[in-house]
Amino acid sequence: MIDKKTVEDLYVKKDTLSTRINIHEKYSVNKYGWNNWIFDQYIIKENYKIIEFGCGNGNFWKNKLDKLPHGVKITLSDFSPLMVEKAKENLFKMKNIDIQLIDIQNVPFSDKSFDIVIANHMLYHVPDFDKALTEVRRILKSEGAFYTTTIGKNNLNQLEIIYRIFENICRFNYSGNLSFILENGKEKLEKHFQNIVQRKYSDHLEVTEVDDLMDYIVSYNNIPKEIYQEIYKNIVKEIERYGVMKISKDSGMFICT
Ligand SMILES: C[S@@+](CC[C@H](N)C(=O)[O-])C[C@H]1O[C@@H](n2cnc3c(N)ncnc32)[C@H](O)[C@@H]1O
Repeated sequence: MIDKKTVEDLYVKKDTLSTRINIHEKYSVNKYGWNNWIFDQYIIKENYKIIEFGCGNGNFWKNKLDKLPHGVKITLSDFSPLMVEKAKENLFKMKNIDIQLIDIQNVPFSDKSFDIVIANHMLYHVPDFDKALTEVRRILKSEGAFYTTTIGKNNLNQLEIIYRIFENICRFNYSGNLSFILENGKEKLEKHFQNIVQRKYSDHLEVTEVDDLMDYIVSYNNIPKEIYQEIYKNIVKEIERYGVMKISKDSGMFICT
């Protein structure tokens, strides 16, 4: 379970997001790519106004902007000043992108001002889900669409198995919490939207370098040295036995209209 303090540690005080994205980029077996798949789901038309909440470092949009129809305007936002700064660094040359510091629970835009609202892998961090969704619905045009990605309960199962071995001596943070996942998301979104479609992305990780996986684990957890070494040994054993450490990925998107 990730609490508010941990969310701040993850995204406000240091950029641990890049470490976590790197492991997916390096070891995912589905080479089409999560970001390309997400972009394929969006139906974007000329002159659309789009807003994304919890945009992180904004890298997603780097190679997508020239694929957009004419006149599209994008507002990227995140509640972490560090992430907003990173997104500005990454996208400073891009026209038609405005980057702002915004908490999804309190949005400074008028009613029905966007054709598309996006919130990827972030709703499970938000303390008041219904407040956030009320804001999403309010700023979305009646015929607009809300796209939101999240994880499923089987995401990164193999890491959880390792964490459980040491759970008595060390508290671990998992990759997300279970407050908004593929299995319970529809029910939560139905309070705010009439039509909800779920799509899943098929993929898993095959990790070959133990240090990359340790960096990933450390990006979420402050682990005592002895436990770090024990986890390290467990992963090395797995990689030696199978050539790779196979880790499940479980993620997908809800499209709400
Ligand atoms: C797991 S990252 C996802 C980043 C990006 N959307 C992606 O899919 O790669 C979650 C992001 O949500 C942001 N976030 C968390 N709570 C938020 C809130 N209440 N309002 C806006 N952004 C928030 C964090 O700062 C972080 O950048």
